[in-house]
This record gives sequence, C-alpha cells and structure tokens, in this order.
Amino acid sequence: MKKPDHVIIFDTTLRDGEQCPGASMGLHEKLQVARQLEKLNVDIIEAGFPAASPGDFEAVKKVASEIKKCRIAGLARCVKGDIEKCAEALKPAGDRARIHVFLATSAIHREFKLKKAKDEIIRQAVEGVAYAKKFCKDVQFSPEDASRTEPEFLAEVVRAVIAAGATTVNIPDTVGFTVPQEFRKLLTYLHEHVPELEGVVVHVHCHNDLGLAVANSLAAIECGARGVECTINGIGERAGNCSLEELVMALKVRNDHYGIQSRVRTQELFPASRLVSQLTGMMVQRNKAIVGANAFAHESGIHQDGMLKHRETYEIMRPEDVGVVTGTDLVLGKHSGRAGFSAHLRRMGIQVSPEQLQGIYDAFIALADKKKVVYDDDIIELLREFISDIPKVYAIKRLQVSAGNQTIPTATVQIEKDGKTTQDSATGAGPVEAALKAIERITGVKGELKSFAMQAVTHGEDALGEASVQVRFGDDLVAAKGSDIDIVMASAKAYVNALNRHLFIAKEARKA
Ligand code: KIV
Ligand code: ZN
Repeated sequence: MKKPDHVIIFDTTLRDGEQCPGASMGLHEKLQVARQLEKLNVDIIEAGFPAASPGDFEAVKKVASEIKKCRIAGLARCVKGDIEKCAEALKPAGDRARIHVFLATSAIHREFKLKKAKDEIIRQAVEGVAYAKKFCKDVQFSPEDASRTEPEFLAEVVRAVIAAGATTVNIPDTVGFTVPQEFRKLLTYLHEHVPELEGVVVHVHCHNDLGLAVANSLAAIECGARGVECTINGIGERAGNCSLEELVMALKVRNDHYGIQSRVRTQELFPASRLVSQLTGMMVQRNKAIVGANAFAHESGIHQDGMLKHRETYEIMRPEDVGVVTGTDLVLGKHSGRAGFSAHLRRMGIQVSPEQLQGIYDAFIALADKKKVVYDDDIIELLREFISDIPKVYAIKRLQVSAGNQTIPTATVQIEKDGKTTQDSATGAGPVEAALKAIERITGVKGELKSFAMQAVTHGEDALGEASVQVRFGDDLVAAKGSDIDIVMASAKAYVNALNRHLFIAKEARKA
C-alpha cells in the first residue's frame, strides 16, 4: 500500500473529546462541530460511539448523513452488538464509513478489567475485525493501552488483526504514560517485527496526562505513523487528547524538520477552537499554544520593540495563519437590518434556520441597544443560546441584585419553566452566590459550584462578560457558559445552562 503523502488527521472531538468531564454536547451542537471540522478539512471525523447511548447513535447517523467531504468513523467494542449498531449508524456515509473497533491488550487491562488470557484477546480482536469487515471495507483496530502492552504481544495482536482485514492500526497511549523516546522505540519495534504494517496505515492516539500528547504524536510521525488522532483544544478523557491545532501547526511551522504536513486549513483553527469552547462550556486557557488569548500577545517592551522592527524576531507564525484576525471584525450596531445581519452570519460561516435567525436577531438588537458596537465574538456568544439543542427547561426571565459593602447581598430571580414563572429571593456572601441560591430555591435542584471564571468577550467597558462554570449535580459534573453585559446575570445564565445540560444528560442516560 502506498503511504499517504500527508499526515491524516483523525478528529475525535465528538467521541473522545466529548468524554471529557462536563463537555457533553447535544445533537445540533455535534453537527455544528462536524461542519466546522469539514471546513477545517480534517480527513476523518470520529462522530461517536453508537452503542453507548441512543443520543450517540443519532449523532453518528446525523453526522454521517450531513457531512460529505470527510470519512466518518464510529467506535465499537469487539462485540457483535456494538459493531452492528455502529454499522447501522454509519450507513448514510456509504463508502466513506469507517468502523473503529478496540480491545485492551495490556497485562493490567487483561487481568483486572477483561479477565482474559492473551489467546482470548487475540481471538476476540480478530473476530471483531472480521465481523466489522462484513459491513465495511474500512476497519480500524485499536489495541487499547498499547503503550503499556508487552511489545511482543502487541506485535502478535497487530499481525493478527491485519490478517483479519484491518486497514488502519492505531497505537493508543491510553493513559498518557509514554514519553517520546520510548514511543519511538515501540513504533520502530512494531515496524521491524510486523512487516505487514507496510500494507496498512498506522495511527497514534495519545492522551495528555503528562502533557506529552503532542510530543509523542510528533515522535510517532518520525517513525512512520501517518495518522494522528486528536481533538480541538485537546479536550478529552482526563487531561485530554493530542491537541489538533498544536499538532497541525507544529507540522506546518517546522516543515523544515518533519517534511510532511496535514491538509488542515489552518485559518479555520481559531474559529474551531472558539466554537468547541462555546458549545462545550470548556474554557481555553489564556496561554494555550496557538488558540489561547495570549498566544500572539507581546507584553514586554523588548519584545514589542523587536516586533515593530521585524515581526519574525518574536513571532514564529502569524495570527492570521490560524484564523486570528485582529481588528478587522465588521462592526454591527442597532441600525443594522435583519438582511445585513443575516448576510454577516453567512460570511462568518454560521448556518441558522429562519426560526433561529429571528431569535438571534432580536437578541442582537437588544444587545446593540446596550452596547455601542457589536463584534463578531459578541455574536458568537449570542449564538450559543440559539444553536444549542439542549432543551431550555429553565430560563431566567429577570434578575435583580442589591450588593455593595454596606448591604447584605441579595438577589431576586424570576425563572420560567413550562410557561410558568416563579420568583424567589436569597442572600449570599456576594451577589453571584445570592443569585445561585435563589435559583436553587426555585428549581429545587441542588448543585455544587466547583469552578467559576469570568472573562470579557471583547474589548471596552461595555464588553460582554462570559461566565464559565463547572457544577456538580450528584455524580454529574457539568460545564457551561453564560454571557451578558451584566456579570451577575452572565453567572446566573451559566448556572442555569449547566442545570439544563445536567437534566438533558440525565434524560439521555435513562434512555440508554
Ligand atoms: O484512549 C484510547 O485508548 C481510546 C481508544 C478507544 C482508541 O480512546
Ligand atoms: Zn482515547
């Protein structure tokens, strides 16, 4: 088989990324992300794990039918039921479908999780691949926890699944344990002992528990891996997965070293990062490489001076290369008409239904009434409310707070549920706590605020405030965002969004 002449980007934001605590998305949100991934030009979108829940099944099916340019993968354990569900969900993708089967191979997983001997593992892996082959030509196999598997046994498994028909073999560092030098050794060993690997595509799937996911993936590329599994903003189980934007830009900026690149349209990286952050409620750290707010900010005088004299003294890539376009937002105001607003959304690459457009336009006018200018980021912020298909069981109608150092912070909140409005008041250590307590009194649902952060969405004194919260409801940890020109209202909205998300997840879990 001819080796791909580029690094295949297998995006798993919608599957592994969504396994990130608090990052679950609804159907419509997943579709928005999939559309952006298509714009990014990733090669493969792993759309979900169809057997995991009816919601996942529907999402894979929807993505498989709407996305036309990328291959669509679905995950399945090496069990018939999973593979059948996966094949069914992937049907709309036709010959762009890929079934991705996995089975753990390491001693610790064999002994404690699966309670299976080596020969049983090989048998199940081979049966899984062979069964998936009945439905789909393109079958990927992942030996879960490969990096902690005995290399000789791993080689045996890989040889067996290739003989059974696997066309891609993925080598996961499931617990983010390996280091670049060791991962290189493992891949070299596999290539030396399994010549059949030449006939398939080798992927790697690195987790970031030691902060090495990107470094390990790059090391694997140097040893012949041609597919990298990654996620936008690096979200995923625990500390996350290999960050797509970091990997892609490392290959591009250091093409002199790697000599191979991905086909990703890098100008779409920043919009993708924003979108995923908005839809999952997961904030991007300010100093995150490539897409963080500080990634292109030069603070010190010496750096600024150098930049002014010659940009490349301190800049290894240009903000516009990753889609950060500073100072060129088209500014909209309250006199912008609906047609102009709608055309502007289209230019931003945002698709909304006519019903959604009406709601977004009304919200835009209400915001433009309060704010002198409305920037693209303000609009993206507004959109989150309207494109989410997480049912708005509870909606805040009004909020009034009294705060300051001479008064006991008190909040009165009015909430609508099923067309009925309920109002209550509470006091707290500050206005935000008072508002959240009042919400708790009205809804009767107890939540524990685990983290809270506030940042300005755009610039100026009248910038929208964006609150990011993580709330624990029982065993469920949920992340959400809320924005408003009033920061207490933004906080209350974020909390209610988290509550609605929790109710949605609980309902999905009951269906599964
Ligand atoms: O981390 C992992 O091993 C996985 C596999 C299912 C590929 O996500
Ligand atoms: Zn994983």
